[in-house]
Amino acid sequence: MSKLWGGRFTKETNKLVEEQTASISFDQKLANEDIQGSIAHVNMLATTGIITEDEGATITKGLKAVQNKLANGELTFSVEHEDIHMNIEKFLIDEIGPVGGKLHTGRSRNDQVATDMHLYLKNHTEDIIELVKGTQKAILNQASEHIDTILPGYTHLQRAQPISFSHHILTYFWMLQRDKERLQDSLKRVSGSPLGAGALAGTTFPLDRKQVADELGFDYVYPNSIDAVSDRDFILEFMSAASIMMMHISRLAEEMVIWSSQEFQFIELDDSFCTGSSIMPQKKNPDVPELLRAKTGRVYGNLMGLLTVLKGLPLAYNKDMQEDKEGMFDTVETLEGSLMMLAPMIDTMMVKVDNMKQAVSEDYSNATDIADYLVTKGMPFRQSHEVIGKIVLYGIDNNKYLLDLTMEEYKSFSELFEDDIYRVLAPEEVVANRRSYGGTSQSQVKEQLKLAKGLM
Ligand code: ARG
Repeated sequence: MSKLWGGRFTKETNKLVEEQTASISFDQKLANEDIQGSIAHVNMLATTGIITEDEGATITKGLKAVQNKLANGELTFSVEHEDIHMNIEKFLIDEIGPVGGKLHTGRSRNDQVATDMHLYLKNHTEDIIELVKGTQKAILNQASEHIDTILPGYTHLQRAQPISFSHHILTYFWMLQRDKERLQDSLKRVSGSPLGAGALAGTTFPLDRKQVADELGFDYVYPNSIDAVSDRDFILEFMSAASIMMMHISRLAEEMVIWSSQEFQFIELDDSFCTGSSIMPQKKNPDVPELLRAKTGRVYGNLMGLLTVLKGLPLAYNKDMQEDKEGMFDTVETLEGSLMMLAPMIDTMMVKVDNMKQAVSEDYSNATDIADYLVTKGMPFRQSHEVIGKIVLYGIDNNKYLLDLTMEEYKSFSELFEDDIYRVLAPEEVVANRRSYGGTSQSQVKEQLKLAKGLM
């Protein structure tokens, strides 16, 4: 089989080299983008008169025929043709004869592959933004249901202060909001058209790069042909945004694992998102959140991999850059798959309101509130902190929570205590009193929910 670039060579490529250097096993994922880019290129070649209108129409028809055959599984890619670009060109020439050879006029695989990557990532970034919105909606559903559900809030995984469950889960809404904004912002840069840059220096043909960019839905044309073929920042940006998002997903997944444990019993994941054990009949394992947590690793790995591939490359295109693809596909697929599972898992998870309520009644997480109470009665905060520390110690020694102590016991620590202390210490009251902007009080959470819903 003769190579499309075989003219300069007198020997066949070593078989092993052919297999190891070919990218067709993975870049076939770009088939549709490659054909789309070629159709835009050929249309432009025809309108600018670089090829005739008839030739343009024949090539476009041929490309669509190839696309159909590929969709129907009628064509087989070959390693001899190395990558998706040359495989498709070969199919085209088989389809329409030598005129197919005019497609590559004024183009190089260097600007072609960059164009394919931009198109692929633009489409998938838009899809991922929609998936993020779906996950945010699932969070909003749970948050709307649980404004009055109170659970212990933690710092250092030690009970800290009672909070509204709605407030807690909304934290993830805001993380995803920033993730979404990062992706939206990256679209500005993924929307540049490299096509027409040629191998690196531009071409001798009077191309209309703007026409191609418009047809492909790109917002601008790379102003520097060398930059056009050597830039992979848009992939790094996507991978960075994806890494941060996976870190967020992993934190939520971790909470789901902890909360669904026997020790916490704060939530129960739907059966459809759990699996059993082959030996222990009682087990219901939170496999999905565990895997989400773990998949973060490959997304970080892909980012580090590509940063490392690019760091020492001289301008312009280098074969090293072929290594940008598998990590990008894997990141896209991992993120899409993760978000697709996450949204329904949040939606279907059962929040165990009574267990959360029980938990806040069995701890000292209202201690800050007595400290604040003494402050409102005139004691400096430092001094009241010290007094309450002693009260907590007394409670621990005597097996009593703060609501169980008698007025006499309170008075023995400070004369400032009065009957109203019991109202201040009730968990609902503790939450309701945190009315500062962005705080956990039911009234603030309602404002926050309104703000969040307004962003959807
Ligand atoms: N398969 C190559 C890649 O993915 C396409 C570009 C090849 N260009 C070249 N001059 N060898 O990067």
